[in-house]
Amino acid sequence: MSSLARVALAAPVAVPRARAGRCCPRRISAAPKRQHRRDVALGSATVASRRPAARRLLVVPAAVLDAAADGAPAPLKDDAPSTSPLAVLDAEPVDTFVDVAFSDGASFRFHALWLRDACADANHVVADAGERILSMLPVNTGCDETLRAATCDVDDAGGLVVTWDNHETPSTFSARSLRAYADVVAAPVAKRPAEGILAPEDENEHPAAWLEPFTGYPDAPGQPPSRIDYFKNEDGVSFPRYDHDAVLADPATKLAAMRDLMRAGAIIVDDVPENEKDSTTLHAFVDDVLGGMQKDPCRDERNWKIVKKRGASSISYDPEKRLNNHTDQSVPPWGGVPALVLIMHYQKGSGCNTLVDGFAVAEALRAEDPDAFEMLATYGSNQTRDFVSSRKDTTQALDASLCVHKREPIIQLDDAGAVRRIQYNEVFRTPLELPFDVFPRWYAAYTKWVTMIHDPKYEVEVDMRAGKMLVFHNWRTLHGRAGGRASADRTLIGGTVTREAFFSRAAELLEETEGVDVRVMGTNVKH
Ligand SMILES: [Fe+2]
Repeated sequence: MSSLARVALAAPVAVPRARAGRCCPRRISAAPKRQHRRDVALGSATVASRRPAARRLLVVPAAVLDAAADGAPAPLKDDAPSTSPLAVLDAEPVDTFVDVAFSDGASFRFHALWLRDACADANHVVADAGERILSMLPVNTGCDETLRAATCDVDDAGGLVVTWDNHETPSTFSARSLRAYADVVAAPVAKRPAEGILAPEDENEHPAAWLEPFTGYPDAPGQPPSRIDYFKNEDGVSFPRYDHDAVLADPATKLAAMRDLMRAGAIIVDDVPENEKDSTTLHAFVDDVLGGMQKDPCRDERNWKIVKKRGASSISYDPEKRLNNHTDQSVPPWGGVPALVLIMHYQKGSGCNTLVDGFAVAEALRAEDPDAFEMLATYGSNQTRDFVSSRKDTTQALDASLCVHKREPIIQLDDAGAVRRIQYNEVFRTPLELPFDVFPRWYAAYTKWVTMIHDPKYEVEVDMRAGKMLVFHNWRTLHGRAGGRASADRTLIGGTVTREAFFSRAAELLEETEGVDVRVMGTNVKH
């Protein structure tokens, strides 16, 4: 019997939040939607409002620069401007700028050309296609940095209507979206005392804050420790658990599953309907909850399939052997960027997977041996994966070749030194391209890393069986397999989800459930 603590998988729906060493049971099916509406006074009227965007997070509320076919702001998907707590109180053209005063007490100076370029009303963007009308581009209508607003008016919904000095088509903006962008793109003009409508918001509580590390922008930060539940085996681990049907039934629960995945490093999906014959159950879940599975050019199916094969050459197909903990590579066309999420579905039989929190190990290494941490964060580790050879034992047809070569540091940091990503897979490591004097130090650090990620102190065993899915954060959580613990009939299917797909789906769900729009999140002008 292993001395490692096991992750028990018996409870059907109860959902413990995965905080290392703690377990707070909750029931996913009862997970309440975030409730950000509240009554606020706006003039003499009382209207329902959504929580305002955080000042520094720069998440734009829904319907940014919404469309308006007749010059008036069009209704938003679920929150029309007429119910917005924000309104434009006053606006006026000033040279090549437009000064706008909002009902929250803030005033900003916008470049007239920025407004003209950003306008997405029906005169400028085809709403249902989400495409700009090219004939209305500023560059095609004689607009440049000398552009001036002719008039500024406030419409009945509190939105801004601007006419221009060089053509007849006006531009309309909702106050709420314009105010959200103001923190990023405009210059504060004056600050009147707030009228009590929009209290400053705690950035940590913003419903989209957890997504900021996954924007894909070059300066995207790593996940802050405050949003990570580090895990290690010696503390005992209970990953968040979700009932399969409950997740699919509710957008807020899908979003909660995605958020928990990033916070906890892994989630478990229980009560997956039996399906031994094809991968439709897996794909339906991934498409609806995670944004869709990545397509591999080597085969027709998006998912991989692993069944036990006697005498297999590839360790992936021989569950009698121990599979070292690793992160998975990813494939083009996303530049070989490691997939953000991995999912596996036990269709048949049982087995034991291992998970290690790469962020926890990296932080431990940083604390214990800063020089080793520096080595692994500075120099690349050569890896080559041949996607055909490494699958020679598969039962799936492979009809194209693909070989991915990488030389990325095992520990990858953001600009501030926070751990952003772990990238390591021993079986695909190739001769190191390290300078003569660096090699001994790097190799000592690497040896320490490999030892740590297989230390029972960190390595968690997860017993899996048919009817369960295991989803994990591939930029953080290393996965492997305990040798000799799989049933003879184990049939495992799975695949990867790109950052792009995950982020896109999360943004969609955030807009649907929380009324926020993430379009300007992560820009490097935010602070
Ligand atoms: Fe793997």
